[in-house]
Amino acid sequence: MSSDNAPARGAAQQQPLQIVARSGSALRDYVPALAALRIEVFREWPYLYEGDMDYERNYLQTYVDSPRAVVVLALAGDQVVGAATGLPLADETPEFQQPFIDHGYAPAEVFYCAESVLRAPWRGRGVGHEFFALREQHARGLGGFRYSAFCRVERPDDHPLRPANYAPLDAFWQRRGYREQRKLRTFYSWKDVGADRETEKPMIFWLKHLESTP
Ligand SMILES: CC(C)(COP(=O)(O)OP(=O)(O)OC[C@H]1O[C@@H](n2cnc3c(N)ncnc32)[C@H](O)[C@@H]1OP(=O)(O)O)[C@@H](O)C(=O)NCCC(=O)NCCS
Repeated sequence: MSSDNAPARGAAQQQPLQIVARSGSALRDYVPALAALRIEVFREWPYLYEGDMDYERNYLQTYVDSPRAVVVLALAGDQVVGAATGLPLADETPEFQQPFIDHGYAPAEVFYCAESVLRAPWRGRGVGHEFFALREQHARGLGGFRYSAFCRVERPDDHPLRPANYAPLDAFWQRRGYREQRKLRTFYSWKDVGADRETEKPMIFWLKHLESTP
């Protein structure tokens, strides 16, 4: 999958999308497409991620191997144009669990919505809302979770690669019932586009009580 054969936004808006939740071995065949999608979308601001296919395959294998994880796929025909991932925080790495433990949250009570990525031509038609709704539904179905969480990278406002027209997603996340928890933060390392080595980035968590709507 490459941007070169992506339809223009107008054409994509006409194309029906199928949004489906998948877990376990049903995900195996999607791993290469999901890896390519993550690399493409996270190359943009604010992630600026210089993707690495080996890292991606390894990362996504966690979702194939974790029976309580979910990936919500946005499919245009047989093409994966978007995806959102989630899994119990207890199944995540220690650097994601530690801030919760430090602030009195039990990792077992938190469902972690790891990421949402949608190729640009398909944005702005409600898929982002569906990505959250289906992951929260999955968490409620599993049972035992008080909170849904996600985190986002914090970049300086005056970062030279920040696009002038960038529209932050904060208001969307708030409308979905999430609140930023500035004290809940971790650090995660990756290589920025054009960088010669990995650097640590602060990641700030947002939380929502799962009993609340929408
Ligand atoms: C996050 C993402 C998946 C949302 O996808 P989407 O399908 O466009 O989202 P929706 O159409 O459901 O819209 C969600 C909100 O985004 C905002 N939004 C959508 N399109 C927008 C646009 N073109 N410009 C600015 N804001 C926009 C709107 O505020 C909307 O909220 P509302 O419906 O309550 O008004 C998509 O923007 C994306 O892939 N972004 C890049 C990766 C990223 O930053 N992911 C989040 C962290 S992992």
